[in-house]
Amino acid sequence: MAFIIIPWILFIRILALCSKSDANVSAVIAFGDSFVDSGNNNYIPTLAKSNFKPYGRNFPGATPTGRFCDGRLHPDFISEGFGLKPILPAYLDPTFSISDFATGVSFGSASTGYDNATSDLLKVIPLWKEVEFYKEYQTKLRAYLGDREADGVISDALYVINIGTNDFILNYFARPLRKSQFTVEEYQDFLIRIAENFIKQIYSLGARKLSLIGLLPLGCFPVERAMNIRNPLNCLEERNKAALGFNGKLNATVTKLSNELPGLKVLFFAEIYELLLQFITRPSDYGFEVVEKGCCGVGLVETAVLCNRLNPFTCPDANKYVFWDSIHPSQRTNKIVVDELMPRLKQVFL
Ligand SMILES: *[C@@H]1O[C@H](CO)[C@@H](O)[C@H](O)[C@H]1NC(C)=O
Ligand SMILES: *[C@@H]1O[C@H](CO)[C@@H](O)[C@H](O)[C@H]1NC(C)=O
Ligand SMILES: *[C@@H]1O[C@H](CO)[C@@H](O)[C@H](O)[C@H]1NC(C)=O
Repeated sequence: MAFIIIPWILFIRILALCSKSDANVSAVIAFGDSFVDSGNNNYIPTLAKSNFKPYGRNFPGATPTGRFCDGRLHPDFISEGFGLKPILPAYLDPTFSISDFATGVSFGSASTGYDNATSDLLKVIPLWKEVEFYKEYQTKLRAYLGDREADGVISDALYVINIGTNDFILNYFARPLRKSQFTVEEYQDFLIRIAENFIKQIYSLGARKLSLIGLLPLGCFPVERAMNIRNPLNCLEERNKAALGFNGKLNATVTKLSNELPGLKVLFFAEIYELLLQFITRPSDYGFEVVEKGCCGVGLVETAVLCNRLNPFTCPDANKYVFWDSIHPSQRTNKIVVDELMPRLKQVFL
């Protein structure tokens, strides 16, 4: 029998070596908005969709998947960077199952926010509901892998969180309700309390490794520049300030939480705000040519249904653009951002 047993032991050792050499990040699990939604909104009744051309033009197979981009999003690149799938599937996509989701899944929903009033605007998935889906996912994962292995996946997963943009650009600065109730500082505090509860909640469900990018310079998004009446096409500094203020508070909160909650590690990449600003102020250093408008359409208003293939103005080469549409970074921007994040993520989480 020895000649059968020995190869099996070798085989198991080799398997163990292979999985170890890759990553002690078992899965990438994303929460948030269009920066991480890989197609969940395709399966809910909302106008916040992008599962049509020219979205996905530079995605494998030139497929419009529901990602608000010409190609892949930053969680896709992070997953690939850890030796996992190059494409993070959407939880609501019926073509995937728990065997796929066991190594990564996105619960993100384009157009959502921390604030329930933000997700209500376009009837998308509120953050609390993303957490409900995550609980359901855990149940399926336990049934699929058994309790012990599932617990390992849950605690070794990297949780990629990107949310808050829409609370400011779709809600606070665009609608009267929240502005009549809160100053910008008060609204930041209101969102931070929700963020804190959210992190505590996923921690209590087993999450231990978190990565947050914070808000980008929102006032320089093409859609915001288009609204600058006083200095046409310049950044709206007030909105950049709101984003920076929010990032400072979020940084303080996650630092506090990582001290309070045993085993919790959070990487907060506040410097991505600065990196985006560098793309915008010194584009040629990064190989970009156009920063003040997106590639899709005339580039100042088009996103979702307005960015469609009937639009004759869409640019031929999105790689020259920081923004793909009037709100969302191009695939090339996402890739450069992840090239910045990956060494720190590996250093801390492997
Ligand atoms: C991953 O790392 C954590 C913390 O260092 C450790 O507790 C866990 O057992 C590791 N998991 C695997 C699968 O190596
Ligand atoms: C958002 O809505 C959910 C479900 O109704 C509720 O449980 C939660 O408390 C609300 N969040 C806030 C901050 O009001
Ligand atoms: C985040 O907070 C920590 C602890 O207070 C501080 O050391 C760090 O400089 C802060 N980073 C940013 C970008 O604000």
